[in-house]
Amino acid sequence: MRGAPGRGGAQRPLTALHWTGGVAMIARPKLGAYKARARFMRRKIVAGNWKMHGSRAANAPLVEAILAGVTSERMSCVICPPHIYLHDTWRVLRGGVVALGAQDLCAEAVGAYTGEVSGAMLKDVGCTYTLVGHSERRTLFGESSALAARKFAAALSVGLIPILCVGEQLSDREAGRTEGIVGSQLEAVTQLSGVQALGGAVIAYEPVWAIGTGRTATPEQAQEVHAFIRQRVAAEDAKIAAGLRILYGGSVKAGNARDIFAMPDVDGGLIGGASLKADEFLAIVAAA
Ligand code: 13P
Repeated sequence: MRGAPGRGGAQRPLTALHWTGGVAMIARPKLGAYKARARFMRRKIVAGNWKMHGSRAANAPLVEAILAGVTSERMSCVICPPHIYLHDTWRVLRGGVVALGAQDLCAEAVGAYTGEVSGAMLKDVGCTYTLVGHSERRTLFGESSALAARKFAAALSVGLIPILCVGEQLSDREAGRTEGIVGSQLEAVTQLSGVQALGGAVIAYEPVWAIGTGRTATPEQAQEVHAFIRQRVAAEDAKIAAGLRILYGGSVKAGNARDIFAMPDVDGGLIGGASLKADEFLAIVAAA
């Protein structure tokens, strides 16, 4: 990955140290205090994205097992079933320690949008969170960053917590464009909603090449991009950046979760395949 553009356009290497150095250069009062407390303030999140998997028969034991296994509120656990199963899932979760999330929402509030589901409807059936701009929406269904930004704003407007997904393709990474891609996905949202909007949101960094491939980013690769995201936000608002939860997604499993979650800027995970097996998902929850 190439370094971040420095002041005056110079390229600087992007490391955790760089994050420390970069932030220290921003003259804002109490920044040291934000940074010192920030990691402890940021409650970790593990969210399961079921994608288009499940059935009524299969979901019931899975949700019940997850609910039985999440006993602590030291972290937040979220499950995101397909829309059609949200209400059934809510009837099991009932506002307890495991929260409900959707996988997508319509950018429009109400009206003649056949097949779409609004943020208000998601709230109505018990959702607290919604994914926005998942890479499968972007690559398979042609969603632009501009549309993802509108969906992000729609989620916030009804009180849902958007989990904004960002991430680069393998070709982008190999061409040194990771920061450019992730930065522009983020910027589409901050330009429309303002950086303050990130105070009510979560970001998920999901490198597209790591999704469903079994090829996870190393903890260091994840940390590097997470630090970049936090630094980008800190350049506009250090306090929002310090409190922002940034999840990693892409082939997270019980066996690699602990090392990834131990990175200083990784605040949990967005889990695909491994969220469909209660034991595996609960082991990831335990690692957070
Ligand atoms: P996998 O964990 O199956 O790689 O999926 C990650 C993902 O896309 C979660 O949103």
